[in-house]
Amino acid sequence: MCVANQKGGVGKTTTTVNLAVALALHGNRVLVVDLDPQGNASTGLSVPHHAGIPDVYDCLIDNVPLAEVAQAVDGIPNLWCVPATIDLAGAEIELVSVVARESRLSRAINGHPEKFDYVLIDCPPSLGLLTVNALVAAQEVLIPIQCEYYALEGLNQLINNINLVRQHLNPTLDVSTILLTMYDRRTRLADAVEQDVRNHFGEKVLQAVIPRNVRVSEAPSYGQSVMTYDPGSRGATSYFEAAQEIAERGVKMGGVA
Ligand SMILES: Nc1ncnc2c1ncn2[C@@H]1O[C@H](COP(=O)(O)OP(=O)(O)OP(=O)(O)O)[C@@H](O)[C@H]1O
Ligand SMILES: [Mg+2]
Repeated sequence: MCVANQKGGVGKTTTTVNLAVALALHGNRVLVVDLDPQGNASTGLSVPHHAGIPDVYDCLIDNVPLAEVAQAVDGIPNLWCVPATIDLAGAEIELVSVVARESRLSRAINGHPEKFDYVLIDCPPSLGLLTVNALVAAQEVLIPIQCEYYALEGLNQLINNINLVRQHLNPTLDVSTILLTMYDRRTRLADAVEQDVRNHFGEKVLQAVIPRNVRVSEAPSYGQSVMTYDPGSRGATSYFEAAQEIAERGVKMGGVA
């Protein structure tokens, strides 16, 4: 599942990290691929990603097997993370001249000898070759949408890019899931955005909505997800609900629980 939205700061990384932890805590084997040179997902999962650590760049550019760079996440059984270091900042340009530049990540994931129940790819806030690699590798796209005024602006561009990838590179790619993030129930605006998104995307929108919750934003500074930092917080329970919906949909689509 590729977590994408070229708009910055909409909750892509927070969603990737917390869904991954929630799914792993329920016994699923989960892999997070940090595909953003900012390395926020690696930080959020407390996975070392300083310069010199083998990372997703090595898989994309130098064909290093994914299994050699994936690290077990401390304290969460069944969860692994392929980190991003600052090296990845150059990949967007270096990829331009490599063979099969759009399908490097797909090849790396498919070459992994062990199977995962879920692979979540955290995308950078752009529509460049890194995001294209994520879209080619994924079966499904999850789009987090922040409940703010400009939320829907730019979504057409993302959907157009997804359609292009579907036409040329990954015919079965499905925008399966929309998640509303940073919902502030005190504002009428958040409610209006929610209605808009539900009218437009229908069933794809998860019932669970992630509230704006300070515990969610505090958790990364402790190298934790909100699931472990404060499991009783509204942020954590909402991400648990979202993970449960995703798991139930997977079962309906013929997967296993
Ligand atoms: N539900 C929430 N409540 C409060 N703060 C949140 C919530 N979700 C995310 N945040 C905060 O909002 C900021 C942006 O979130 P995040 O990094 O997940 O977005 P992103 O889409 O990955 O950003 P980027 O485009 O830079 O990769 C972070 O500081 C995060 O801690
Ligand atoms: Mg991010």
